[in-house]
Formats: sequence, C-alpha cells, structure tokens
Amino acid sequence: MSKTHFGFESVEERDKARRVRGVFDSVAPRYDLMNDLMSLGLHRAWKAFTVLAADVRPGHRVLDIAGGTGDLAQAFAKKAGPTGMVVHTDINAAMLGVGRDRLLDAGLVLPTLVCDGEKLPFAAESFDRVSVGFGLRNMTHKDLALAEMNRVLKPGGKLLVLEFSKVARPLEKAYDWYSFSVLPRLGRMVAGDEASYRYLAESIRMHPGQEELKAMMKKCGFGHVDYHNLTGGVAALHVAIKC
Ligand SMILES: C[S@@+](CC[C@H](N)C(=O)[O-])C[C@H]1O[C@@H](n2cnc3c(N)ncnc32)[C@H](O)[C@@H]1O
Repeated sequence: MSKTHFGFESVEERDKARRVRGVFDSVAPRYDLMNDLMSLGLHRAWKAFTVLAADVRPGHRVLDIAGGTGDLAQAFAKKAGPTGMVVHTDINAAMLGVGRDRLLDAGLVLPTLVCDGEKLPFAAESFDRVSVGFGLRNMTHKDLALAEMNRVLKPGGKLLVLEFSKVARPLEKAYDWYSFSVLPRLGRMVAGDEASYRYLAESIRMHPGQEELKAMMKKCGFGHVDYHNLTGGVAALHVAIKC
C-alpha cells in the first residue's frame, strides 16, 4: 500500500481522505470565524482577486470544487447571473451544509453536491470556469484532481487554484512562528481544536511551491499556467487555461 502525507505524518494513502474529513467535520461550525481571525481578514482579499481573475461572464457554467462554506461560489453566482450556473461542491457534507445555509441566507439557490475532486461526476467539457480554493492541498492525488479539472473544462476554459504557498524568504521566520505557535493556540481557544490547526500549518509546508505546482498543472494538460503571489507568497493564485 502506498504512503502519502497527512501534515508531517506519513499515512497509508487510503487513510488520508478519512483523516482530512475528520479535520473538516471538526472545524466546519467555526470555519468562517477562524478564517477571518487567522488571516486577519486577508482571505477575503485573496478571494476577491480570484474572482477578478476568473472573469466569469453572464451565462457561464462554473464549478467550485472543495467549495466549503461557499465564499467563491457566492461571488461567482453574482457574476454568472440568472442565465449561468454555479455548482457548489465539496467532499465534506458538514462544510457543504454550512455553505448551503449561507448561500440560502444570501438568496441564492445553487446546485450543491457532495463529490470528490479526484473523481468528478461531470461530463467532459461542461464548464467555462473551474475553481478550487484552499482545497487542492488536502487531496491525496493532486495530479488526478488536476487532470479531472482539465477534463471537465471546455477548451479555452479557465482553472483557478487558490492555495497557501511558499512565503518570501524574509517572511519565513515570522511565518513559521505564527504557524506553529499562534495558529494551533488560536484553534484551541476559538474552535476547541488544536490538532486541526496544527495539521493546517503542516499541510501548507508539504504542499508544492509556486513553480512546482505550475509544472504539475502543465503536466496535467494545461497549455498555459501563470501564478500570482499574494501577501508575499502566503497564498498564490494559479490561473491555467485549457488549450
Ligand atoms: C480549507 S477548506 C476551503 C473551503 C473554501 N473553498 C474556502 O476557500 O474557504 C478545504 C475544503 O477542501 C475540501 N476537500 C478536501 N479534500 C477534498 C476532495 N478530495 N474533494 C473535494 N473537496 C475536498 C474539504 O472538505 C474542505 O471543505
């Protein structure tokens, strides 16, 4: 049986998805509050930039993978308008449930579907835009997931991968201190869960850096890939075109 990583731990591949599900089952009720606290609200600016780069037009069909509590799906739905469609998906029913309730509170009824980003239940070439926000890092086979994203995109369609990335060298020390000392404590105090926020810090360190992810996306079939560092590389937005 092949091994993979769950944060800094080495685990059997078949166990990773279950461990990741445990993390998001636990954090779902406090996910949005923790996101604002731990990023000091910066995740909102990163997502706004992603929406800008996505350039969703009226009538577009958009797939949001690992959509969680629905920030990106909500913003895309406003752009796609009544003639378009945004499908809000996640592997975790607890996260998706919080997201669906938030979308309904905002007056949006979107198709909401529990599905694995590594095995998408959609026909080839069915979306103009595909997005995955802070989700790819948690997937066991990132190459399979990227190939699936490529498959369901129409030719000329755009993939947006927003993810934590490698920070610029001058920020490294402060970022490590924040990630491994502050974040788990914040998780314990606010969400009653220190381990999940330690996993968050560790999983970020294990995720491919900007150039490595770009190369992986090209290998998975995207003809053009570019990335934008956000907040000194704390996050990065990779934009890929299927061509
Ligand atoms: C950090 S949350 C991001 C939620 C939302 N996109 C955001 O930006 O706030 C990561 C999400 O990835 C989801 N996820 C993890 N593995 C997945 C997979 N294999 N397929 C689809 N979603 C997955 C988790 O359930 C979780 O909701």
